[in-house]
Amino acid sequence: MSATTNVLFVCLGNICRSPMAEAVMRHLVKQEGLEEAIKVDSAGTGDWHLGHPPHEGTRKLLDHHGITYEGMTARQVNGGDFNGFDYIVCMDAKNLKDAKAVFQAASDRNGAEGDPAVFTFMELLPGHGISDVPDPYYSGNFEEVYELVEAGCKALLGRIRAEKNL
Ligand code: 4NP
Repeated sequence: MSATTNVLFVCLGNICRSPMAEAVMRHLVKQEGLEEAIKVDSAGTGDWHLGHPPHEGTRKLLDHHGITYEGMTARQVNGGDFNGFDYIVCMDAKNLKDAKAVFQAASDRNGAEGDPAVFTFMELLPGHGISDVPDPYYSGNFEEVYELVEAGCKALLGRIRAEKNL
């Protein structure tokens, strides 16, 4: 089997959107028997919630869908992540800009062959007419985010399977 494919989801606080995507993606990967081939992580651009478990709203939705988030705690994105992942998927345009700035500061080889694909989550769902996954920390609408996360993770898994021959 080919080398492990590593996926990182990035949001602002790493307690609402990106941990939801991490848990859902890992669940889908496991359902497909690909847990040895595809590894999933998440991080935040901000540092307010380091070490905290996912937000209650995210936990509620994951519990409802029988998806585990055991052991998950918030961490901050860092320059080394650029070299450690194949797909870095940012939940909104600001997260993308901020994550790219962190990577740029840590490396001058952005754009080289073998670099990760760094893009926004909604690029996985063209046709939805929105460019950002809304932040439920402010909106309180975790259900809306779950629907987007589930659809986007399915699309991402399809893309990875196609691109990595899995
Ligand atoms: P997230 O949501 O980026 O989806 O985890 C947020 C969580 C915390 C904060 C902002 C957004 N905060 O300002 O603490």
